[in-house]
Amino acid sequence: MTAAGQPGQTGDIARPLAVRGAIIHCRSDPGDSSTGVGVEYLPDGLLLVDRGRVLRSGPAPELLRDLGEQWRVLDYSGKLIVPGFVDCHVHYPQTDMIASYGAQLLDWLEQYTFPTERHFEDAGHAREVADFFLTELLRNGTTTALVFGTVHPGSVEAFFAASARRNTRMVAGKVLMDRNAPDYLRDSPGTGYRDSKALIERWHGNGRQAYAVTPRFAPTSSEAQLEQVGRLAREHPDVYIHSHVAENRGEVDWVAELFPWSRSYLDVYDRYRLVRRRSVYAHCIHLDPQDRQRMSEMGAVAAFCPTSNLFLGSGLFDLQAADQCGLRVGLATDVGAGTSFSMLQTLNEAYKVLQMRGHSLSPYRGLYLATLGGARALDMDGVIGNFESGREADFVVLDPAATPLLARRLTGWSDPADLLFALMMLGDDRAVAATYVMGVLKHSRAEPVAA
Ligand code: GUN
Ligand code: ZN
Repeated sequence: MTAAGQPGQTGDIARPLAVRGAIIHCRSDPGDSSTGVGVEYLPDGLLLVDRGRVLRSGPAPELLRDLGEQWRVLDYSGKLIVPGFVDCHVHYPQTDMIASYGAQLLDWLEQYTFPTERHFEDAGHAREVADFFLTELLRNGTTTALVFGTVHPGSVEAFFAASARRNTRMVAGKVLMDRNAPDYLRDSPGTGYRDSKALIERWHGNGRQAYAVTPRFAPTSSEAQLEQVGRLAREHPDVYIHSHVAENRGEVDWVAELFPWSRSYLDVYDRYRLVRRRSVYAHCIHLDPQDRQRMSEMGAVAAFCPTSNLFLGSGLFDLQAADQCGLRVGLATDVGAGTSFSMLQTLNEAYKVLQMRGHSLSPYRGLYLATLGGARALDMDGVIGNFESGREADFVVLDPAATPLLARRLTGWSDPADLLFALMMLGDDRAVAATYVMGVLKHSRAEPVAA
């Protein structure tokens, strides 16, 4: 126990940590099944963490017997410990315009997004928003995300610096955009290439930070710029590629006009060798079977953004079609078109999107999508996503009694699937009792934590 026997930051963080509570994590994809294949559940578990990494997990009574004096034991009995959530597509500069009324994608970009992103020419503003955004992610249990900056290199510099201070595992990139956007937000093929390269050299693989080459979407890049994006991707085969595809019908028609030679919207990216492993495309709603097949073959990933897709009226993502062709899918908030930072709320909307298609999302698949599935989508399942021995110890403590309604609904809970499902439907940031990054407490509803 810590001095007070309570969870918290107190105590020597160099000492190994034993975290007690109900523990659930995925060893593999439970798929459509609602039986929990591939899911490990320990009703009274202990998670052992040493030097920021998982040593092992197992039944608490057994493991506690052999625990030496040096261990700090944190007692979260009655709560649920899960791996840190992974948000596969989000825009940190859009934090301040979340919940902006009334438009669909292309008008929403003009009316709200571009003017908001303009403010990031000011590095001080970027630092302030990056700090708020990362605090908000941690308050929601999200420990890893794939993040859009703005066209300004300083926006990404500020973001990585803020993430490095928290030791969160983040992937981010400067937006590349040289046409069909206001002058004040345009780069050029040359400056976009050089600025991206400098950021890659400084941040890719720097601690837990990684870089994503980030063309906004096909309509805002000239073919000359897409050439340079392809060049960056070729010169840096292990950086990520991050963009949007086939979100909105008007957007799809516009791409067909701008790139008359293309077979499909995805084909534009493919032509520049941007459909590959470590490429993540948000939305993927209006794809055809050939596009999905191509993404799957090339190891590309679709980011499913349910709150955004409903908010902007974009359409219903087809998870079953993705599964059928082996296309990897990550779950994402897409804030500021998305309406919540909470991956629990994102699962709530994902469930409803699938219901509208006549499908279902089991609670275990939901857990998978928010954790190991996200880690796999970002090619990080060797380091995060579950509690296998050696993984970085990013984890979240969920409180089944966080609100009066949750407490009432979950009185005497024992079935982990039912617990997960109620948390997905009714939970949000209030259900996140604590968030740990590599074994260090970074957010606690019980006590304030310094950044
Ligand atoms: N397509 C191009 N830019 C954006 C953006 O900022 N948000 C969303 N949802 N779609 C986009
Ligand atoms: Zn987006």
